Amino acid sequence: MTRFAHSAALRTAWYPVALATDVGDQPLAVRLLGEDLVLWRSGDGSAVAAPDRCPHREAPLSLGTVTNGDLACAYHGWSFGDGGRCVSVPSSGPDATIPPTAHLSCVKVQERYGLVWVCPGEPASEIPRIAQEDDPVFRRLNTEVEQWATSSPRLVDNFMDFSHFPWVHTGTFGGAQDPYVPKIELSQLDDDFFGYSYEVDAANPDEATAVSGSDEDVVHRVMSTGFALPFVVRSTIRYADWLEPILLLCSTPVDDVTSLFTFVVWRNDDHSIDPEGILAFDRAIGAEDKAMLEQVPGTLPLERVGLVSVQSDKPSVEWRRRFAAMIGVE
Ligand code: FES
Ligand SMILES: [Fe+2]
Repeated sequence: MTRFAHSAALRTAWYPVALATDVGDQPLAVRLLGEDLVLWRSGDGSAVAAPDRCPHREAPLSLGTVTNGDLACAYHGWSFGDGGRCVSVPSSGPDATIPPTAHLSCVKVQERYGLVWVCPGEPASEIPRIAQEDDPVFRRLNTEVEQWATSSPRLVDNFMDFSHFPWVHTGTFGGAQDPYVPKIELSQLDDDFFGYSYEVDAANPDEATAVSGSDEDVVHRVMSTGFALPFVVRSTIRYADWLEPILLLCSTPVDDVTSLFTFVVWRNDDHSIDPEGILAFDRAIGAEDKAMLEQVPGTLPLERVGLVSVQSDKPSVEWRRRFAAMIGVE
């Protein structure tokens, strides 16, 4: 198994760790790349992320409470406001000078696509751009952030691969697909995503009609799937020449063998379809991947000789090659 979570290069990327709506007036504990962080929303409405460790006696700040945007530690009540600035040390009285080392060393935060993204170090890249976010024809649907007992490299390997659809996804859309995978050509799909285009026939059970916009038993999907290093995957789907859902599949490494997973959907439908009907089917697809991946032990071997790969693995092998180069694995 190739450990990766300690890699310095991974500290320069952005990771979605929570729904924006989950960061509010309760501290939220998240673990990213093996480090514990606390998130809350400060008085100016911005999300704050900092190590989940009080500078006083190291109590987890996520045990504290937020009042008017200030997070008070549960142990001795020191409290922290905008930008993690320590604003109160109750035992020293209201007029005491706050020690300069009492302020929190915050980590960088951005809110994008309904998600709170964190970069634990100095950002070396941007959050991948999704053009449909600014297109009023598209609406965005978010779903919860789940913790999966699998490594983020295995998630990306899975999302870049469509040869598992007729095996893992028989309970949802995979049952109508020819298992044969024609020759795959990889290309730069746009400025941010590298991947490939392909076409599949997808089963279209009753639960899928809201997603596909069709009540046929089988629908044809024209698709592209691409990655943005390290762990973001985007799939585009076109049904019947007009409906074009975009899925952003976000894997965030909690540690080497645990991940946060959430997906975001943009759709150019007439906005009348109940979002829950759409998300329920996509969640069921995710649950099929989760059930398989949680049975595969350890993280994905990154060395070239570690696994047997065939033609249909070309996209995930290319992701693995670039990811290994990024973190310095030969
Ligand atoms: S440990 Fe947080 S205030 Fe003392
Ligand atoms: Fe899958």
